Amino acid sequence: MRLDYLPFGRQNAPPTAGQFAETTSFMALIRVTDRDGVEHDVQGNTGFTLMENLRDLDYGVAAVCGGMMACATCHVWVDPQWLDKLPAQQSDELDLLRDLSTYRPNSRLSCQIKFTDALSGIALRIADDE
Ligand code: FES
Repeated sequence: MRLDYLPFGRQNAPPTAGQFAETTSFMALIRVTDRDGVEHDVQGNTGFTLMENLRDLDYGVAAVCGGMMACATCHVWVDPQWLDKLPAQQSDELDLLRDLSTYRPNSRLSCQIKFTDALSGIALRIADDE
């Protein structure tokens, strides 16, 4: 298990237990199907968004806007079994997705989904390019 420690500002002291709990991420499974239909089991960091976990992989999540909900290059199709476990979709996200030719009822912007332990094992497919 890998732990990622985030910076604690300019403090020189070690983090308190509360800071540790808030800023430590853990690995959990993301089942990713790339645009060629190849499935990959990826160890993702909880505490980050799905987009942040996916963009460094070479599966096609560009995340051009960095999570500002302006580009839709983080578009994924989520396995329908997982949809009700996700945070509710904001109207802005739905508006952006509905403008895409690749929109499906299970479309989500991966930048709008915090990856948590409760989502370990989530299955998604990188949406086709526009
Ligand atoms: S990264 Fe641009 S909309 Fe998600």
